[in-house]
Amino acid sequence: MEEFKARRARLLNALPADSVVLLPSASHKVRNRDAEYPFRQDSDFFYLTGFKEDNALLVLSNKQGKQACVLFCQAKNPEMELWTGKRLGIEAAPAQLGVDSALDITSLDEKLVDFIADSQHFYACWGKDEHWDKRFLAALGQVKNMARKGVAAPQHMDALEPVLHNMRLFKDTHELARMRKAAAISAKAHTLTMQACQPGKAEYELESVFIGHCLQQGARFQAYNPIVGAGENACILHYNDNDQPIAAGDLILIDAGCEWDHYASDITRTFPASGKFSAEQKALYQICLDAQHAAIAQVAPGKHFNQPHEAAVAVICKGLLQLGLLQGELADIIKNETYKAFYMHRTSHWLGMDVHDVGDYKQAGQWRELQPGMVLTIEPGIYVAPDNMAVDARWRGIGIRIEDDVLVTDAGHEVLTAAVVKSVADIETLMASHV
Ligand code: GLY
Ligand code: MN
Ligand code: MN
Repeated sequence: MEEFKARRARLLNALPADSVVLLPSASHKVRNRDAEYPFRQDSDFFYLTGFKEDNALLVLSNKQGKQACVLFCQAKNPEMELWTGKRLGIEAAPAQLGVDSALDITSLDEKLVDFIADSQHFYACWGKDEHWDKRFLAALGQVKNMARKGVAAPQHMDALEPVLHNMRLFKDTHELARMRKAAAISAKAHTLTMQACQPGKAEYELESVFIGHCLQQGARFQAYNPIVGAGENACILHYNDNDQPIAAGDLILIDAGCEWDHYASDITRTFPASGKFSAEQKALYQICLDAQHAAIAQVAPGKHFNQPHEAAVAVICKGLLQLGLLQGELADIIKNETYKAFYMHRTSHWLGMDVHDVGDYKQAGQWRELQPGMVLTIEPGIYVAPDNMAVDARWRGIGIRIEDDVLVTDAGHEVLTAAVVKSVADIETLMASHV
């Protein structure tokens, strides 16, 4: 509870005087008819509350120099709880969550007016959800109608995201503990999946090994839909069908990571179905791995966000040039981006509660400087399209990505996902111990 309380105080301290913040929880989403998607709390809301229920809204205020924190949530209701599960309830919420008070969510519209009244700055995630925009604006309209009573309406409609997401970009020790746990479970799941691989199995069988391990460890949710692509499917960046058979000569690309208590991991490994890389697979794999090492070496305080990408691109271009997949001068290939036929995505994104986590990548038009506490992925890839007639047939249809999660530390970096092997020799050794 203390960590969430401290974050709320930190947020309020970062806002101008006389601010009010309104932040709703996530809501249930229908998948089809009466079946819903599994509920996942809104990341911003969880970051500030630690509260897992839907149908709730957090109000923060620092009006007249006084910080206040009120949670609107569902009242206890034994009849409803019999169907939909236990609720914390209004009475228990302050002690459990450390909020100053809790109110019934059914009274939200009438009570919002009081919180907005006499505030100068109205912070919300404007434009994110039409339903909430409308409700907040309706309440603002009511406050404006109170002008003759001497009530002041906010003069500023402010976006909550820049300040809140800048906080989320720097992971505190509680967050890092959760990210390490997610990383450890996913690393082990990748290891077990590699060991379970055999030609003749289907992609979904490997997916089941991965997800099965995560579930056994209590990580009930994946941070994103797993990608299990065998052979040419590895060249489809967001492949999710995972339903094809695995052939002996295939490389298999698995991009999968579980979520632990709302924190993501994001790992990719690529390995040969038979346990041994072919000469072509090995040559491209080694370039990709060298690119990843070069990129990881660029993760340190004072480097900027794009430096790992630039390092990866340089290694990939050089390697593909040497193998004859690219032609011309190295500098031209990089400048003209002809390498994008083989490496079309970027090397990194922020990682945290969301797999593509929040936080600006540029500030004042410049790539952001890396600082301790930031976590980013390093995920170079090489993909030779099956129909790329500009290269020898033996290269076609090979897809490789190697992805780790990297924390920026005072001294440089720490690879949170280092427990799963990635060198050619280590993969071949691991796969020889088939289980
Ligand atoms: N798994 C999503 C990504 O690598 O960005
Ligand atoms: Mn990623
Ligand atoms: Mn990934």
